[in-house]
Amino acid sequence: MRIVLLGAPGAGKGTQCKRIAGRYGLAHLSSGDILRAERAAGSELGGKARQFMDSGALVPDELIVEMMAAAINKAGRNGFVLDGFPRTVNQAVELDKYMAGDGLKIDAVLNLVIDDEMIAARMTGRRSCPKCGAVYHIENLKPKVDGICDNDGTGLIQRPDDTLEVVKKRLETYHRQTEPVVDYYRKSIAVYDINASEDVEKVSSLILEKLGAFVSSAKREP
Ligand code: AP5
Repeated sequence: MRIVLLGAPGAGKGTQCKRIAGRYGLAHLSSGDILRAERAAGSELGGKARQFMDSGALVPDELIVEMMAAAINKAGRNGFVLDGFPRTVNQAVELDKYMAGDGLKIDAVLNLVIDDEMIAARMTGRRSCPKCGAVYHIENLKPKVDGICDNDGTGLIQRPDDTLEVVKKRLETYHRQTEPVVDYYRKSIAVYDINASEDVEKVSSLILEKLGAFVSSAKREP
């Protein structure tokens, strides 16, 4: 199964993609996580991406499409869930072309729907593990010990682009450049709108319900 998860910054894409990937044995391919790893490794791509990420703008399409094509290729044939990509209509068109070259296509799109007001609280309270990538929240999803990752005991950090000022810019970028991607997919693929303002467990169950129904109907097709 090949899935795209769309939604505003802080809608819960990363949180839910980890669960979907675990449930269906898919590769979780997060463009943001890959970019942060490139930055941490001091690569040329990481250096080019830095100024865009820190200001809340999008990294240029040509860099992202090449990076994600390599990630998809590396993920193999077991399927994947895309988190944070595609983020422009041009990226979506290029993704379709790339997959068609291998006789593949995106099967379903999940669209996390949430108001901008809720997002600021989620983003400014987010903490993540720099080692394993686990994501927490200081109120909604606390680690067992304050400031420490449950998985590996590493100190949790706050992302530099999670300040209120940059979050506002990221939301503006989302509405202008990424929302049209939802309409692009609605023309050709099953798009499931999910109420992402519910708590983490409820959002997970809404997603798994939709995906379960999708998988059953796909199996019934001749
Ligand atoms: P990226 O890392 O993709 O950031 P984003 O899309 O802005 O999304 P986030 O990771 O901030 O949020 P999320 O939706 O994953 O939410 P999370 O699950 O963490 O991209 C960063 C930057 O990289 C971009 O700004 C851009 O510059 C660049 N970039 C990346 N991809 C690109 C592309 N394709 N093209 C161009 N540039 C690109 O949850 C947030 C918080 O809320 C957490 O603390 C979590 O615990 C909590 N939470 C989650 N769900 C719930 C819930 N249901 N209830 C309560 N709390 C919740």
